[in-house]
Amino acid sequence: METKNLELTTIGKKVKRVDAIQKVKGESKFVSDYEFKGMLYGALVLSKHSRARVKRINTDEAKKINGVKAVLTYKDIPGENQLGEVVEDMPCLVPIGEEVRYFGDVVALVAAESQQIANMAASAVEVEYEDLPPVLSIEESLKNEIKVHESGNILTSKKIRKGNVEEGFKQSDMIIEDDFFADYQEHAYLETQGIFAVPEPAGMTIYGSMQCPYYVQNAVPKILGISMNSVRIVQSDTGGAFGGKEDVPSYVAAQCALLAYHTKRPVLLSYSREVDIQFTSKRHPIKSHYKVGFKKDGRLMAMEIKAHMDIGAYATLSPIVMYRSLVHAAGAYDVPNVKVDIDGVYTNKVPCGAFRGFGSPQVLFAIESIMDESSKQLGIDPIDLRLKNALKVGSKTSTDHLLTESVGAVETIMHAMKIADYENLKKSVSEFNSKNRFKKRGIGVSHIIYGVSLGAAGQSLDAAGALVQVQRDGSVSVHVGNTEMGQGMKTVLAMIAAETLGQKFEKISVENTDTSYVQDSGPTVASRATLFSGNAVKEACEQIKSKILSMFSKIKDVDEEEVVIKDGMIFSGDVKMTFEEIVGICYNSNVDLISNSWFKSPKLNWDPKTGLGEAYLTYSYATQIVVVEVDMLTGRTSVVDVFTSHDVGKALNPVGLTGQVEGGFVQGMGYALYEEIKMRDGKILTDNFSTYIIPTINDIPQSIKIDFVEDEFSQGPFGAKGIGEPSLMPAPAAVANGISNAIGKRVKSIPATQEYVLNLIEEE
Ligand code: MOS
Repeated sequence: METKNLELTTIGKKVKRVDAIQKVKGESKFVSDYEFKGMLYGALVLSKHSRARVKRINTDEAKKINGVKAVLTYKDIPGENQLGEVVEDMPCLVPIGEEVRYFGDVVALVAAESQQIANMAASAVEVEYEDLPPVLSIEESLKNEIKVHESGNILTSKKIRKGNVEEGFKQSDMIIEDDFFADYQEHAYLETQGIFAVPEPAGMTIYGSMQCPYYVQNAVPKILGISMNSVRIVQSDTGGAFGGKEDVPSYVAAQCALLAYHTKRPVLLSYSREVDIQFTSKRHPIKSHYKVGFKKDGRLMAMEIKAHMDIGAYATLSPIVMYRSLVHAAGAYDVPNVKVDIDGVYTNKVPCGAFRGFGSPQVLFAIESIMDESSKQLGIDPIDLRLKNALKVGSKTSTDHLLTESVGAVETIMHAMKIADYENLKKSVSEFNSKNRFKKRGIGVSHIIYGVSLGAAGQSLDAAGALVQVQRDGSVSVHVGNTEMGQGMKTVLAMIAAETLGQKFEKISVENTDTSYVQDSGPTVASRATLFSGNAVKEACEQIKSKILSMFSKIKDVDEEEVVIKDGMIFSGDVKMTFEEIVGICYNSNVDLISNSWFKSPKLNWDPKTGLGEAYLTYSYATQIVVVEVDMLTGRTSVVDVFTSHDVGKALNPVGLTGQVEGGFVQGMGYALYEEIKMRDGKILTDNFSTYIIPTINDIPQSIKIDFVEDEFSQGPFGAKGIGEPSLMPAPAAVANGISNAIGKRVKSIPATQEYVLNLIEEE
């Protein structure tokens, strides 16, 4: 049943974020705020090598410390000593005789009466190692002389074969070729990883900071050797995630659950920032080589791309991150001939995994740098070059996916140009440059595509449920399987529920995710919560609404078709009552006002052998124009202005969208300019925010002008697509292009730190 409201009352309007007040007042309950009687604190014993064989583990001294309740090793695992979401290559606790593969590998676990005692006991665990030579770079890994895993150093390879690139290059008037590198990025969520494991009479309840409660529900029973229905996962308020809490909480929960299982007491395992940065996944470093052919008029003819991803010591989510890198490598363009090869290689360093953009910002930086450089060499304005090659309805993507609807790419280019007042912007930048000798400004443009949700490689997980219940007083409880982690999901789902049910927005409550209410709804990733949970909520609300409408038409003897329910009122002409009144009548007549619904991805056809087919359900698009300023004496770069236009299908919550785009830009700018993981022998040295530098409020550009294109997607709730990741994705490329244009030399590696930029300026 379609929503009858011709005029939307909540969708597209300005609403108050549902969790704003509790967060501002410090009332949100993060996992470390929980307290249980008899609780213990956990700590990890981490590897002291990037590669070594464990010879002996001595826990005697640690166990003697007063207040220590458990010191566990691999021998204490009742189930399988196996973690890993996609490939089972990661032990929970490294056994004697096996290798530690990076500095974050865990050898033992401790639970004690206080965090101090737990930490003390963890350092009292003696581990004897046989030091082994590590693999610390993509190049060393490819030599395959030292194997990180016995299976070999190349975890997996993916490819696209569209058209014939050799022919395409023959037909090209200009061929451009270059190498690019995009380094690590740390998520830097405010709240570190944390799990509370609470033993129950039959099983266990796990509370924690997480994106994917159902991943945790898979991991914990496997480690404990118990059934899934004896473990209940309840998400606590989560202080940021950005992909960093996709699979990692499963590992944290496995560790914590083991401690609770053996001590039979509630255990809090909350990582310090240093442990968090050393242990948890990062954005993948990607090295890429691009060869791209153009016609004189700027038309793209062929792209040949070879890329290597440093996946670190364990596969974690890398195979699916690689899928996104593969599909996004050729950018947002209509190219007849495309050849892409990507290899993921193991190294003895921190495992890489999900991070906002999921393997796409790195390759988009490369292709957008190529587009920028080509526009110079072809003498075509960078905006015009993008327009010339942009995707439209009827175009085919790099995987040969025919686009049939909701392709707002060209509109985002036009809108970005308009809000930037592009022609005058170019003039003012060149005026600035002619007046200033030591400060130079540059305009950077980028244009991106984003495949929404999990796509063809993740179809088995691409569904989501909702359980909606209208209470006797007319207030509404919504349970979904996706999670709120700060991105604003609860608010947008409350808006969808309010709009669909016809109840007031303030009466809707979206609960924290609990695996006992809704079936496995896949991970909360891939900018899919609005689309998937949104559709599920909408469907559940429509089912309930139809019961309310039919009750009203029956008792008032009016035609059901004529009944409207809107903003807390139900009416047919002059006959009306409040939402609360009609709900009371339904309750008194024993009508059930609870509904369970399920939205699943339509089947996508994609062939892994050729990389061709329907890679994703739909795509979002964005265009960004930035102005950067570079101090030519110091290499210091700042972003002065940002203009960004995003095709979101439908702007359900404009305030929330704006917040996402501002935050995404700043996180992407941090990746482009400041954020640098420094290692020694594979150990991360920048393990706190004193050394790992992220943008502060002082670094944020004076203005970020944001525009939304609404090219509705027929299968999205009210036409919406996703924004979580597209908000970040254009930024690294746009900022890098801005620097290149300011200094007249090409940035080929990010982060383009002050040191890097100064070296580039001074290079002959
Ligand atoms: Mo997100 S990077 O898809 O968790």
